[in-house]
This record gives sequence, structure tokens and C-alpha cells, in this order.
Amino acid sequence: MRKWSSILAVVALVGVLAGCGQKDTLADVQKKGTLVLGTSADYPPYEFHKSINGKDEIVGFDIEIAKEVAKDLGVKLEIKDMKFDGLLASLKSGNVDIVMAGMTPDEERKKSVDFTKIYYTAEQGIVVRAEDADKFKTMEDLKGLKIGAQKGAVQEKIATEQIPNAQVKPLGKISDLMLELKNKKVDALVVELPVANSYVAKNKDLALSPAKPKDDVGGSAIAANKGNAELIDKMNATIDRLEKDKTIDKLVTEAIELVE
Ligand code: ARG
Repeated sequence: MRKWSSILAVVALVGVLAGCGQKDTLADVQKKGTLVLGTSADYPPYEFHKSINGKDEIVGFDIEIAKEVAKDLGVKLEIKDMKFDGLLASLKSGNVDIVMAGMTPDEERKKSVDFTKIYYTAEQGIVVRAEDADKFKTMEDLKGLKIGAQKGAVQEKIATEQIPNAQVKPLGKISDLMLELKNKKVDALVVELPVANSYVAKNKDLALSPAKPKDDVGGSAIAANKGNAELIDKMNATIDRLEKDKTIDKLVTEAIELVE
């Protein structure tokens, strides 16, 4: 009898310890008084660097929405900027509390993290050199060419699956992809449409192709570690509030104006 109860005690202890690995982010954030956001600030108008009064700042509508989330939680917001393909590992290791980076809540990612509802939907686009705009009008026109896409992003998959025989070149940063395109190291890029428009507006030598990649999820959501239902609920409540009074639309417009 005694032997069994000690075995049970050990089993229970192991259970508790395993449970500790899945930390309660909300409680932790409230204790710290800070919400640590992981993002990849190469993504105007979602998140990007901008010099404001001579100071480098990270701005964009994701950042503004994150500020509202922090406000509703009654805590400060801290931003950690990194490459897009490192974000989910950083979330899982506890280096950041949430991830907001124009991130698509696709099935693959849902296996390892939880998402809020989609707070912004967007289509995908193809960016080419302005001089090639007449040549590359459909996905078929890009057949067999060198195509750039952000590493670890859904665009990498779209390039591989939707452009016949594409030679896909994945790079960590969107800004580097734009340079590769200008320098003719690649012939076209698959980029989320609002981001494509932002870069094209600022670069006369680039153009948006009328080619239309398909995207069945097509939206952005906030990611948190699994087992944080209460935090997800609270963030969904913030999104609901911002959707209801059209704040998100306003934040997107303001962020686009900041790009120009
Ligand atoms: N929506 C795409 C994805 O989730 C790309 C997001 C890239 N975000 C960024 N901040 N660079 O895979």
C-alpha cells in the first residue's frame, strides 16, 4: 500500500513538473507588468523601422494593435525585433510572450502554437522589376524563373507550389529580397499585397504584377504558446473592440501614411 502511494506521489510530481513547462503567460505578464512582443520589423505597413525625430522606432498597425492589447491587460509593451523565421522558436522558448508579425494562422503553425482570431485579412502579390512589368503578368509567366520569398513564411510555400518549376530563393528579410530583385539575382518576389504595395510605392524601379497567387488562409493573427486560453480570450476581446469601432481600419490607414 505504502509503495503504491509513493509511486503515485512520484507520478503526480512528474505531472506537475511537466505542467510547469507550459507556463501561464497571462499570469507571468501580469507579474512582470510587461508584455513582450516578438515581431519582424521588415513588413510595412504591419511593422517597420522609421526614424521619428531622429530616433529609430518600430511602427506599424501590428504595433498599434499590440499597444491596445497591452493597455487592456494593464501592462507595458516591450518589442523584440528579429528575423521572421526565428519568431516561433523565440515564443516557445519564452523569450517573447506573444508574436505579431502579419503572421498567418496556418494549419502547420497551429500544431505548435495557438492563435487569436484573424485581425486583418490580405491577399498575396507578385513584385517584379518595373522594366519586366509587361512580361510577367500571370503565375504561368514566371515558370522556371528565380523567385524570392521570405524564409519560413507562407510565401515560400506559395512560390514553390503555385509557380511551375520555380527556383525558390528564401531569404530572412524582405528588404534583402527587394535588393536581390533590383540586382537581378531573382526575377520576381511573392509578397503579401499590402507589403508589396508599400515597397513599390517607394521604389520606382519596382512594380506590382497583376499575377494573383492564391491564399486560402489570407490573414494575420496573434500567436501565443499553447495552454493560454485566457490570454487568447482577452486578446480576442481587444480585437473585437478595435474591429467594432473601426479602429483597425484607421490604424492601417495611418500606418500606410507613415510608409510614404
Ligand atoms: N503572412 C506570412 C506568414 O505568416 C508572412 C508574414 C511575414 N511577416 C513579417 N513581419 N515579415 O508566413
